[in-house]
Amino acid sequence: MDFLDSGQKFSPRQDQDWDPTLTFLPAADTRQLEKNPGQRRKLWIGVGLLLAAAAVALLTGLLVWHYHLRSDVRVKKVYIGSMAISNERFLPSYEDSSSPQFVHLASLVRQQLKLIYSKNSVLAKSFRGATVQAFSEGEGDGDGDSVVVYYQSKFDVHISQQASLDQAVQSLEPQTGSQSGRHGRLLPKPTDALNVNNVVSRALDPRMTRTTLFAKKVFNLHVRDSGVVKSPGFPDSSYPPNVYLQWRLRADPGHRVRLDFHTLILEDDCQQDFIQIYDSLAPIQNLVLTEQCGYPHESLSFLSSGSVMLLTLVTDEEKNFPGFIANYSQISLSEQKCGGTLTASKGSFSSPFFPSNYPPKTTCVWKIQAPKETFLKVQFKKFFLGNNSAQCRQDYVEVDDQRLCGSKLQSSVLTSRSNAMTIRFRSDSSYVDQGFTAEYEAFIPTNPCPGRFQCTNNLCLNTTLQCDGWNDCGDASDEENCSESRTRTLQIRSRFQPEKLPTKSGFHHPAEFPQHITSYNVCSNRPFGDFPFMTSQRAVAPPPECDGSQMKCKNGRCKPEFWKCDSVDDCGDNTDEENCVKCKPGEFTCRNSRCIPKKMQCDGKDDCSDGSDESKCEKSLVLQQCSEFTFRCRDGRCISKLNPECDGEQDCEDGSDEDNCHCGTRPYRSSRIVGGQASREGEWPWQVSLHIKGQGHTCGASVLSNRWLMTAAHCVQDNGPNKYSQATQWEALLGLHVQSQTSEWTVRRNIQRIIAHPDYNFLTYDNDIALMELDSNVTLNQNIWPICLPSPTYDFPVGLAAWITGWGATREGGLAAKILQKAEVRIINSTVCKSLMKDDVTDRMLCAGILKGGVDACQGDSGGPLSVTGPSGRVFIAGVVSWGDGCARRNKPGVYTRVTKYRSWIKEKSGV
Ligand code: ARG
Repeated sequence: MDFLDSGQKFSPRQDQDWDPTLTFLPAADTRQLEKNPGQRRKLWIGVGLLLAAAAVALLTGLLVWHYHLRSDVRVKKVYIGSMAISNERFLPSYEDSSSPQFVHLASLVRQQLKLIYSKNSVLAKSFRGATVQAFSEGEGDGDGDSVVVYYQSKFDVHISQQASLDQAVQSLEPQTGSQSGRHGRLLPKPTDALNVNNVVSRALDPRMTRTTLFAKKVFNLHVRDSGVVKSPGFPDSSYPPNVYLQWRLRADPGHRVRLDFHTLILEDDCQQDFIQIYDSLAPIQNLVLTEQCGYPHESLSFLSSGSVMLLTLVTDEEKNFPGFIANYSQISLSEQKCGGTLTASKGSFSSPFFPSNYPPKTTCVWKIQAPKETFLKVQFKKFFLGNNSAQCRQDYVEVDDQRLCGSKLQSSVLTSRSNAMTIRFRSDSSYVDQGFTAEYEAFIPTNPCPGRFQCTNNLCLNTTLQCDGWNDCGDASDEENCSESRTRTLQIRSRFQPEKLPTKSGFHHPAEFPQHITSYNVCSNRPFGDFPFMTSQRAVAPPPECDGSQMKCKNGRCKPEFWKCDSVDDCGDNTDEENCVKCKPGEFTCRNSRCIPKKMQCDGKDDCSDGSDESKCEKSLVLQQCSEFTFRCRDGRCISKLNPECDGEQDCEDGSDEDNCHCGTRPYRSSRIVGGQASREGEWPWQVSLHIKGQGHTCGASVLSNRWLMTAAHCVQDNGPNKYSQATQWEALLGLHVQSQTSEWTVRRNIQRIIAHPDYNFLTYDNDIALMELDSNVTLNQNIWPICLPSPTYDFPVGLAAWITGWGATREGGLAAKILQKAEVRIINSTVCKSLMKDDVTDRMLCAGILKGGVDACQGDSGGPLSVTGPSGRVFIAGVVSWGDGCARRNKPGVYTRVTKYRSWIKEKSGV
């Protein structure tokens, strides 16, 4: 019962609907109440109102007094700033804060600041003192003809004046666009003192002023000789709690600092633990290059614009992680000059230092001059330029008159209608990103793709890529109007994204300009892909006929018959889902086939009686009843949100849906198994190679924690003289990428204990799951990380993309792979799978594959994971590779152990 919810009881409407059966406690004077109830009530209301008004007045008065009149409600504000001193030369002794030169210049700076602040009444009144933190060489050619000073100014201001203080501090900065000399506004100077300009200052980030921070420390490093910087304790222990550490990195004059992270693993929440990198020696917020926490996937190489960089680490009380290690070095500013004139008819260029993050405050201009009578096209293959901003005012690329910014996952093509093109790249002073790579090519406008296929978006492809089932153009124009046999390939591949055909990812034959960006933020009127001078020259083929096992959609496509009425729009025009015996419009179809009114869905009540109407809701209502489809919180209550675990939002009142979620992330941004491709190192950090000692790789497994692995029970069954059930026979290789090639990240462990599922059936492969305990814990690193375990009610819907990984055979009866292979498959409907696999599939198994054939797990992949990316990007293990009918055969999907069925068994046996 909610005690705040008592208002209704005394509402007039309730008085009228008086329930005569209710009895109340007796009033003090019942007789009087009965005699003149109306008058009496009015009197009480009057007194009540009077008292309330008095209370409000008193409170207002108190507040006014507190905030405006009381002189002791003051706040302390700290600003971190820098300014350039143009009439001083930088001396090496300025690097040492105890040198007489430092002390002398610092005192001049303090005088200078006092003078600057004295010109503004708010600043003059509240300024309490400044400390100089460091000096560095000024901007320029490294000739040391100016000095930059970093300082901290403290103010003490009345609470009501905070905003004016911010404003006053801000007013010292040169206005953007002002023309007061190379360095912006010049500030007052006492006779024979400093000439200062370029003042910037920002309030200190509140996370750096937490009162709990007990250790604050500054390390000064010179990066002339390269070396490493690491968080305290790395890699043997987690970083300490409640620290604020700064590493000031300085390069020689005329050089920039380079910082390359090797490992970075922090708490996920940047409000708690984080690192920042600044293009400065002090943490001035508008010079921050990046802020990172968790287990970042981006490029982690950074460059400064000048000779200094600052790295900070802030941690809180709880949840401390391994931390980081990074290499520092210096690069001459004259190295890697970007831009230039490109005169070849074909070529490439990229942002400075790609794939490292580009440095801040950089401008590059490329001028392309192609042969006369040609036009130019330029394709951005990678494009990571921070966040989209409305006018692309921060970091951007400008192609002739079009500005591009933001980050795109696919690439795109721009063309010019002349033989010249100018491309300009610009980064501002904060927040850097990985940048771009681009290729350009001149073409003859009357024949843009000689001997090749021309996509609608003007890419040129080898004709073999047309109608091959893959969206090579990016706009799918290479897969339109295809003849029958080719169409069928496409249908299967496009099943789950009817309008969006799959785009190749790496392992297919490259097209000249194979992919297309659809979501550029283009700051010009001309939309991308608008090339009016080109026309398509393709022949139009007649619509295909479907074969016996297929149905024909209204739009002419052919789809396998058993995809009819499976609630997935396979045709793309939904005709495969029409005329199915289903519930009426406005009704919801329960899993048990009952029909209920749509409005009963997600209302918190189990109207289907199997819970299915409450299992896929966006909001997490607490349900009256749990069902086999609803997530159960630790407190026993069930919620209606679909797959709420580790999705970054707290859904259970007790927060248990977000417990133990340090799993399923990987260090890289990702771009045999049969029909797969080599994966990138660290892409599948939960993948384990299980070796039989003396024999080598035998099975796969997945990392569940720093002590436990999960594999298939059939891997650990004795087989004649081979005693595979004995832990001593096995050795686990974690963080491995290439068989027989260990790296610094690879960890080898003996197995202490094997727990195969007690109900494993060696004939049917039912319950094909086993746990392995390592003989000692491993330290998680960027190549070793646990995969998330799904709760028993986690839903992996039919059609969902999943990845299989392993070092197994690359074709049926073939040899094992050396490099870890990956392949994308889809979850397959169980009824369909049972019919295809002749009922050998139990409810504790899950099917996945590509029914067309060609992609599957195979011998040696067993025990490995079937990985699925959840809503927040975390990867969950949906299955364990178990069995199949041959490998990659048509209509023979792979069969996996359905992990959701074993969640409590895993917990019980391993504690994970
Ligand atoms: N049982 C095999 C092994 O031990 C894995 C088979 C998977 N087969 C398949 N077609 N999906 O490695």
